[in-house]
Amino acid sequence: MTNISPSLLSVDFFRFDQALALLQQHGVSQVHIDVMDGHFVPNLSFGAEMARALHRHYVMRSEAHLMVESPESFVPRFLDAGATEISVHLESTRHPSRLLQTIRGGGALAGLALNPATPLESLRYLWGSFDFLLLMSVDPGFGGQVFLPTVWEKIEQARLEIDGRRLPVRLEVDGGVGLDNAGELVKRGVDTLVVGAAIFAQRDPEASLRDLMDLLTKVSHQKEENER
Ligand code: DX5
Ligand code: ZN
Repeated sequence: MTNISPSLLSVDFFRFDQALALLQQHGVSQVHIDVMDGHFVPNLSFGAEMARALHRHYVMRSEAHLMVESPESFVPRFLDAGATEISVHLESTRHPSRLLQTIRGGGALAGLALNPATPLESLRYLWGSFDFLLLMSVDPGFGGQVFLPTVWEKIEQARLEIDGRRLPVRLEVDGGVGLDNAGELVKRGVDTLVVGAAIFAQRDPEASLRDLMDLLTKVSHQKEENER
């Protein structure tokens, strides 16, 4: 079953409580925290205190997506803040194996994120060092961008690689995901969909979340039936 990891980036910054209450009411138990430093991406967003506050008030899993230069200096802060999953960009670090090991060693799941233009071949010597693969389907930096169609092929390839290697790696897609492409992403074997603007930038976030969850349940079941 494909699940949703709602990105808090598009939430009204004065209404986080409402957003979290909505997610809890609908049984969503994970959120995606987009961390931007104004260098790796041309925007600023949240720091580790966001994760700390989340865990102080809610029982939730949190996935910190570090879109920062020198992620080595941020990972310990997010571990300390209680992030349960941390993803780092391959483009931002010279020593990915060591960094992923630090994340795992700190008790969190380690994710490796790839920008749309970074080929899957870059993972050749890294398979086995991460727990989830985060494929960006937009150039990171902003919520509400349009899904890049060139990423479809990469998603398909990633699914094949993961299955072929029989690795327990979760496949996640982030950027421009919404009602128009979520069904197809499920069909292509994506395990987690990060969704920000398609929920929180809509007029009725609750209806948007419900529609998305209904679609995921329906298409996931169809897929499971077909695979039987
Ligand atoms: C983009 C971030 C995202 C994003 C979610 O840099 O990594 O997680 O805000 O994307 P949308 O808003 O397109 O669903
Ligand atoms: Zn993200």
